[in-house]
Amino acid sequence: MNNKKVVIAGGGVLGTQIGLICAYHGFDTTFWLRSESSIGRTTPKIERYSALMLEDLLKAKALIGNPMGAFMYPKGMISDWQSMTAEKIDELAEEGARRFKENIHIELDMAAAVKDAYIVIESMSEDPQAKIGVYTAMKDLLDEDTILCTNSSTLLPSMFAEYTGRPEKYCSLHFANTIWKNNTAEIMGHPGTSPEIFNAVVAFAADIGMVPLQLHKEQPGYILNSMLVPFLSAAQALWANGVSDPETIDLTWRLATGAPAGPFQILDIVGLETAYNINQMKPAAQQEGTVENKIGKLLKEKIDRGEKGVNFGKGFYEY
Ligand SMILES: NC(=O)c1ccc[n+]([C@@H]2O[C@H](COP(=O)([O-])OP(=O)(O)OC[C@H]3O[C@@H](n4cnc5c(N)ncnc54)[C@H](O)[C@@H]3O)[C@@H](O)[C@H]2O)c1
Repeated sequence: MNNKKVVIAGGGVLGTQIGLICAYHGFDTTFWLRSESSIGRTTPKIERYSALMLEDLLKAKALIGNPMGAFMYPKGMISDWQSMTAEKIDELAEEGARRFKENIHIELDMAAAVKDAYIVIESMSEDPQAKIGVYTAMKDLLDEDTILCTNSSTLLPSMFAEYTGRPEKYCSLHFANTIWKNNTAEIMGHPGTSPEIFNAVVAFAADIGMVPLQLHKEQPGYILNSMLVPFLSAAQALWANGVSDPETIDLTWRLATGAPAGPFQILDIVGLETAYNINQMKPAAQQEGTVENKIGKLLKEKIDRGEKGVNFGKGFYEY
């Protein structure tokens, strides 16, 4: 087994970012993709995200000495902010660009892709049947010691453990979007994950510049979304029931807790389409008169007007 070999199954938004951060931190990184057309979709993503990562790294030079810098630098790419100098950042960017070039490979042959891998991180679409299909195809091709992780946001590892052929070496390793800035990694086993493997995944997450956040048992939504989703729902209910308006609700939260952003500012960052999709998954959203139904209608009106959040220049606020 090669302790420096990582395989990413799925070259979408998150898969690409995970592969790049592994390559940046010196891991030999192979994307396993299912077809030539997948290569055509993943290659531009690799180019775009690697350019964005290096751009954010170089921009951090302007943050040195700025008291807000410690909150804004790309934390997944710089381990010791206090000792950073412009020269050191230039060196990191040069080395990063070299590693992106040398450490990244794309492979369509699954057996060749996973051979000798230390860890395989599955980051495919949130489709249980697709994930089961790939685990089943992969299980006899993996080296005995290879660790298998899923980046799934909403599906539990216990749903898939039996299909992996290595339940004790399988767990969730869940990253956040814009991994090079939001460097959290939630690690969550299922009841059959071995403690040694869990600890090895925690150590691996730290080795690729993440802050490992350990869950001691399975929890849908992990730690962050278990808190964030109900919090955002409560804020939207206050708005949809006409109790208060987004600005006042945000102001209340900021003043009372010292938090830099209120729930509607967070919703603008998450994107109103995502918020709408999460709301519509609740059965009550389909029933006339419920608060979930009112939230759905209000969000839909904003989405139809193009007010979809920060990335669209307007959401609850103008940007
Ligand atoms: N997007 C996010 O913000 C985010 C954050 C954390 C975790 N996740 C999780 O990461 C995973 C991927 O999400 P994403 O946003 O990158 O999705 P995406 O749609 O951008 O990418 C999905 C990838 O899976 C591939 N794929 C689908 N079916 C396949 C199959 N049968 N065989 C091989 N490849 C297949 C697709 O070709 C694509 O490259 C999901 O499990 C999601 O829950 C997403």
